[in-house]
Order: sequence, then C-alpha cells, then structure tokens
Amino acid sequence: MCGIVAYVGDKQAYPILIKGLQRLEYRGYDSAGVALINNGTHTYKCMGKVKDLEAHAKEQSIEGHIGIGHTRWATHGEPNNINAHPHTSMKGKFTLVHNGIIENYAHLKKELTSRGFTFQSDTDTEVLVNLIENIYLEQNVSAEIAVRVALSKVIGAYGLVISCEDEKDKLIAARKGSPLVIGVGESEYFLASDASPIIEYTDQVIYMNDEDVAILSKDDLVLKNIQNDAQKPKIQKIDLSIDEIDKGDYEHYMLKEIYEQPHSIGDTFRGRISIDKTKIFLGGIIDVMPKLNQAKRIIIVACGTSWHAGMVGEYLFEEYARVPVEVEYASEFRYRNPVINPDDVLIAISQSGETADTLAAIKMAKEKGATIIGICNVVGSSIPRETHAGVYTHAGPEIGVASTKAFSSQVTVLTMMAFMIGRKRGSLYDELYKQLIHELTLIPEKIEIILKSDSYIKGIAELYKNASNALYLGRGYLFPVALEGALKLKEISYIHAEGYPAAEMKHGPIALIDENMPVFVLATKDKSYEKIVSNIQEVKARNGKVIAIVTEGDETIKKLADHVIEVPDCHEAIAPLLTVVPLQIISYHIAVMRGCDVDQPRNLAKSVTVE
Ligand code: F6R
Repeated sequence: MCGIVAYVGDKQAYPILIKGLQRLEYRGYDSAGVALINNGTHTYKCMGKVKDLEAHAKEQSIEGHIGIGHTRWATHGEPNNINAHPHTSMKGKFTLVHNGIIENYAHLKKELTSRGFTFQSDTDTEVLVNLIENIYLEQNVSAEIAVRVALSKVIGAYGLVISCEDEKDKLIAARKGSPLVIGVGESEYFLASDASPIIEYTDQVIYMNDEDVAILSKDDLVLKNIQNDAQKPKIQKIDLSIDEIDKGDYEHYMLKEIYEQPHSIGDTFRGRISIDKTKIFLGGIIDVMPKLNQAKRIIIVACGTSWHAGMVGEYLFEEYARVPVEVEYASEFRYRNPVINPDDVLIAISQSGETADTLAAIKMAKEKGATIIGICNVVGSSIPRETHAGVYTHAGPEIGVASTKAFSSQVTVLTMMAFMIGRKRGSLYDELYKQLIHELTLIPEKIEIILKSDSYIKGIAELYKNASNALYLGRGYLFPVALEGALKLKEISYIHAEGYPAAEMKHGPIALIDENMPVFVLATKDKSYEKIVSNIQEVKARNGKVIAIVTEGDETIKKLADHVIEVPDCHEAIAPLLTVVPLQIISYHIAVMRGCDVDQPRNLAKSVTVE
C-alpha cells in the first residue's frame, strides 16, 4: 500500500519519479506527489492519480537531481490534496514520503502539539516528519541521527524516504515492515517500493531489511541499522524485464494477465516436473521435507484470493497427502490464540509477499516453533525472507489489482506439493501420481482452448452486466473457485456477489433467487456431478438464470442451463485451474462494460501492507 520512489544522481529526477510512480500506482492511487530538491524543496501534490499530478505540475519547470515521490492509499486521513505526500515539517527542515502506519501517532502528536507544533493534515506521516524535525532542532544532531532517534520512538510499520534542507545532497531511507529496494547505478541511486521503477536504469539492487537505514548521496551509500550498527549491503541482480511490466497491446493489465496464464502456469511447473513427467521436485522445500512427511497438521494462512488458493490446497492435501489441513484468514489467525505445535507446518500464501496480516501470522507461528513454508510470487519480498523454506510461483509481475495469474500459479504450486508429499508419505500410488502429473502438464494448452471462447463469454457478460447481485456455486474442489469467481466480480465491477458451496444454497441463499439473479454454477464432470445437476434444477425451478461452467460435450446441463461455457475435460483435482478462467474473463468484461477502472478498482490496492 502506497508506492515510494526516489532518485539521487546526475539525471533530472522528475521524469524518473513520474515514471516510477506510474509503475507503482497499483499500490495505491488516491493521491500522488513529488518533491524536488533544487535550491530549496519544491513539492507538487494532488488528489487523484499520477496523471492528475502530471497535469497539476505541468505549468512548472520541475528541475532537480534529487527527488522523492509517492502514490497513496489512504490510511490516516481521507484522500485529498493536503493529506497527499510528501509532507514537510513545520519549520520546513524535512520532507518525507512514507508507506505504512505509525500506530502511536496520536500520542506523538499530542506531545509535539504541547511543544508548539501545528499540523496541516490528518496523517500519521506529518507527525513523523515533525518528530524528526523536533529531535533535529532540539538535540542539534545530524539529519541521520534525528531520523534514527525518531524511529526508535515509533511503533508501527514504515518504508520511508526523507530529505533535509541542511543536507541537500542526501536522502535518508528506512524500512520496517514496508518494502524498499535500492537501485545501484553509476554515480546514482534509486529507491522504490519494488524494483519495477528501477529496472530500466540498473539491474543491481539491494533489498533493505527491517530496521535498515540507508544514507544515499550520488556517490555514496551507507547502510546501517536503527541502532547505528553498520550493515553490509548485499547487491543482487534483478531478474525482471521491462516487457514483463508492460501492458503490451492489451487494453488492461488484468486481461494481459488472464491471457498469460498458459505461460505463467508453465513457468510455475517448469524445472519442477521431470521431463518424462513422472516426478515432481520442489527444491525450495527439500530441507523441510522430513517435517512435511511427519507433520500431524498443515495450517494454511493467507488473505483474499490467496486464501481461496489455500482452500484448494486443503482439498488436495487432505485427499492426496492425507494430512489434516486448516485454512485460516491470516488476520483472524494472528489475533486469536491458536494452538500451534512444533510438529505443525504452516504454509503462507501471498502474491506480493508483503501482506501485513500474513507476515504477522508467520512470525507468530514461527515463535511457537512451527515450520514455515512460503508460496510467494514477488522474489525478495518480506514473506520469503521470514520463512524456513518456500516455493516461488514464478508467475511474473502481476500488476492488475485483481489477482488472476497469481491465483492459478499458487494453485499449481499447491497441487505439485500435495502430489509430491502424497507420494512421499505413501498415500498417493505411483500410477495415479503419474497420471495427475501428466494432466497438470496439459493445463496450459487447455487454458489456450478456453481463451478462444473469450468473445462468446463476452456475449454472456453483455446479458448480465446490469445485475445487482450474483451467486456462484460449486462443490468440492470447485467451491473455492466459486468464492474466487464472486470476489473477482465484486472487486472490479462493484456488483454484489457471493460464493457458496452448492449444497448450502438450500440453507438460506435460495431465498435470493428470482428471475433477476444470475447464478454461476461450476458443474464440470466430477464425483459430485449428479448433485450439482440437481442444484441447477433447483435454481431453474425458481426462475434463476444459470450460467454453467461445464465439461466440453456435456449435453445434460446444456438442456437445463441458460448458458454453458465449456472447458476441456480434466481430472477433478486440477479442474480449479481451468474453471477459474471463464469466471475471470466474464468479470473482466462486465467491469469494462460498466465503465469501471478494471486495473485499479476503487478503494483497493495491490499490496496490503497495513493490517
Ligand atoms: C483479490 C486480491 C486480494 C489479494 C489479497 C492478498 O483479487 O488480489 O484479495 O489476494 O490482498 O494479497 P497477497 O496474495 O499479495 O498476500
């Protein structure tokens, strides 16, 4: 949540900041701002998106070789011009951009107010910048010391970059809980919340660790921690290309990412399934295999779409590895007092690797002795660094706020894990193991077939684009897909949608069904097929409109449903990977037809780094 970008070097900073903010806009987009240091600090900020900032700043000549920028997702204080970052301290000494939450800001604000400080905005960030200024002036210390002392008083999370009027050639950055990456160029440094604003200038980066403080000038980088101990910068090469973060010819990132799934799923299993398709090898968890083999229980923690992937994991692990599984919302898990034993394995799933609740759940389970495995997409993000072992999904950057390819790659990893553990534990016999692996490798080409139905699916979207509500029903492996389909529709088109286990419909939701209610039913051929056919009949008997996702060639449901969308036949254990695709496509088209901002839906941000 919130994107930060900064530059110090010989180039003009403004274009670098603007381009960087555009790349980070997925992290928040309710206001944006930049500050350029050039004979004083010049701040331009406004409510709205980066394009609004550009329009706002257009008239000015914005020069300077040092600058900081921010795109905001509001936490403290509504989105408006005043609450937009950067924030400058009362006496104008410091200018700050900040991502995260200062939890004790009210207490600090009270203290600063009693010392005569006044505040323009409702933000916790303005409190922090004034706290730093107060220490700087009162204790007569350097900017760096003032920052470190202030941060030692702060409770909460931050990724921040700050400039000081008296030390004009420098930027100071600090991180705790919110990511920051330093790009290392020739006589220049970049800073950003992720590597995407940096890649076209350098592929050399340093991922800052929690409690790191970096002091950057064009020719110098000093890395230390808040306690002033020197830290050794670990420079790494980023494995990311501009093409991967480019929208290409697609109208939206979400559409591009839906269409990328044959490749992204292929990338997820590439090198992890033997060429003869008889073995799965997940190198990242090899060290914890003994723990996994003996685990009495697996706990899966995640949020949102990743939680839905976790539910598919539950069905897979229980069926094929015969281990009891609990799937938990990270935000609930961390705040109750769950029973966690040292022989539990906790799997944390996160696209961004930065979700605050998931990270906190990991830390808690780790303290209680559980073995922690991460399934993450963003390499070098916080979650993989907190876990004992892990598997990257390798889906490539996901920029559309609504998760699509990350979900299918997470499910692919969980599927491979379940089969691999099942085989190791002896609960999955060899012949079925090989058949399942073979089926998994066919998924990319089967998704290509589904993508060919795009315009047919768009036609169905046209019929339901004005619905106020929608119901999604599924059973077994397809129940989590129903939840995911409903989430996709509601988050990008703002239509109220609910996912239900199909059999639960009779216990309440059936009351909602009338001729205006579209009901999406996941009805591919599996062991509950007959039952789901009955559920479709129950909906039709109440005049509901049924859009059924069926196995190709299904004539029975074709006669009952209003519309069918066919997917190729596959084993039920991997059907989520196919059946989710038409639901993503239909949500996408409905949202576009309703004029919604598909890639940046209202109130959302891609990476939820606050709890
Ligand atoms: C929905 C969506 C969110 C995320 C959730 C967790 O499309 O993207 O529900 O799945 O915020 O994010 P990660 O996976 O980054 O932890």
